[in-house]
Amino acid sequence: MPVRIEHAVENTTPAANQAAKRMFIKSYGCQMNVYDGLRMAELLTPLGYELQDAADGADLVILNTCHIREKADDKMFSDIGRFRKTAADNAIIAVGGCTGQALGAKLMQQAPAVSIVFGPQTYHRLPEFIEKVETGRTQRAAGHKNAPIRVSDTDFPELEKFDKLPQANSYGPSAFLTIQEGCDKFCTYCVVPYTRGAEISRPVNHILEEAQEMAENGTRELVLLGQNVNAYHGEDVDGNEVTLAKLLDKLAEIEGIARLRFVTSHPQNTTQDLMEAFRDNPKLMPFFHLPVQAGSNKILQAMNRSHTAEEYLAILDKVREYCPDIAMSGDFIVGFPGETEEDYQQTLAIAHASKYVYAYSFAYSPRPGTPAADMPNQVPEDIKKERLAGLQAVLDNSQEEFNKTFEGKTIEVLVEEMGGKIDQLRGRSPHNVAVNFTTGLTSEKLNRRLIGDILKVKITEAGAKSLMGELIS
Ligand code: SAH
Ligand code: SF4
Ligand code: F3S
Repeated sequence: MPVRIEHAVENTTPAANQAAKRMFIKSYGCQMNVYDGLRMAELLTPLGYELQDAADGADLVILNTCHIREKADDKMFSDIGRFRKTAADNAIIAVGGCTGQALGAKLMQQAPAVSIVFGPQTYHRLPEFIEKVETGRTQRAAGHKNAPIRVSDTDFPELEKFDKLPQANSYGPSAFLTIQEGCDKFCTYCVVPYTRGAEISRPVNHILEEAQEMAENGTRELVLLGQNVNAYHGEDVDGNEVTLAKLLDKLAEIEGIARLRFVTSHPQNTTQDLMEAFRDNPKLMPFFHLPVQAGSNKILQAMNRSHTAEEYLAILDKVREYCPDIAMSGDFIVGFPGETEEDYQQTLAIAHASKYVYAYSFAYSPRPGTPAADMPNQVPEDIKKERLAGLQAVLDNSQEEFNKTFEGKTIEVLVEEMGGKIDQLRGRSPHNVAVNFTTGLTSEKLNRRLIGDILKVKITEAGAKSLMGELIS
């Protein structure tokens, strides 16, 4: 991958010595990007940047982008135009994340307002990039017409990022923690192997240290992140390989951590010990996101998914044998090249058969550089749209049915934040369903104190996407 840093002369005033500057970071896409965005903020705060929640008047705007579907790219380009107008006059606009990685320096030709382009594996170098742009600009102001004022770095330095970033702080009662990154699966529709790079697993002791620190700062639930999180195979201090199931056991020993989750998994890596973990690790929540993508074996093969529909359903059966109470969820793509009406019907059939508690579904978006983009028999947009609506209706229905099973039941909710009203709180059930509930306490202060607690809530009503209830004192 190309690395292109336009070197500028050193010896500038470090940003830390300057008056407070304002930064705005917008993260698009998956949870890992959200996690990366938080880490960027943590990295830049000591340099004197204060985080704000809009681009208005900001001195630094970071777009932490997603490249997964065409729409995500379009949104980024329109946001650049918008933020350029509302940010401070001389604002530095930086594009990171997966689109930054995919387009590299080319992105600055398409969007000249952008001064910095970087990828998911180089964001720890942001302080360096910013300093280079600032130095270049100072030199230009002093008459050096050719001083470089742009930086592009889409290198893939393995694991360097995790060593260079400051220790994670608390992100609240439920917090993300990246343990694995990148992907070697190369599904034919997907850009992730190109934007995030090869699969790497962080060493066990680094993860445990970070988790410990998070627990000490109030985190109760850890959501372990990876593009193929169940392919995790990090090393412990003795050089032994540790599986995700073993890592979950170690994390369960941390005092203060009450709940563990992980996302996203690949069917191929659903190992025996992971299924046993759902049965044996009391802190591992009964929820498993395991995307299937399609129900037709012909399409699954063209997608390079390495399993058939029957094999996938057999995995679900086995997982449910170990943990009968488990809530399963998945992802689907409709309108993959060559998908016939019959193939689509098979996708609907597997959506029924999987009994998901919810699932994400997408219309296939051809991505430049991926094999599927060049496959014949691309499906017309209007058919994709129709099929997507049909699938979503099936999935919405099963989600509502699942939510209804909780009506009248009492469940444990990890409280994450204040709700819409003064006596309302919001959290999640063990099965990962959002729960809004009333506490009967009219003091905001008293309610706020309950954030981070795991409370018994009686469910009074099930909605399409969430549950409503009241606190059992
Ligand atoms: N690593 C995860 C998630 C990858 S991206 C996994 O393997 O499941 C999240 C989801 O986006 C995918 O599961 C897939 O359903 C969807 N997706 C990926 N590429 C896509 C494309 N080109 N068009 C439409 N949806 C896509
Ligand atoms: Fe993309 Fe497939 Fe890798 Fe998931 S497993 S990130 S869908 S290539
Ligand atoms: Fe998007 Fe990159 Fe995540 S493409 S889905 S931000 S890994």
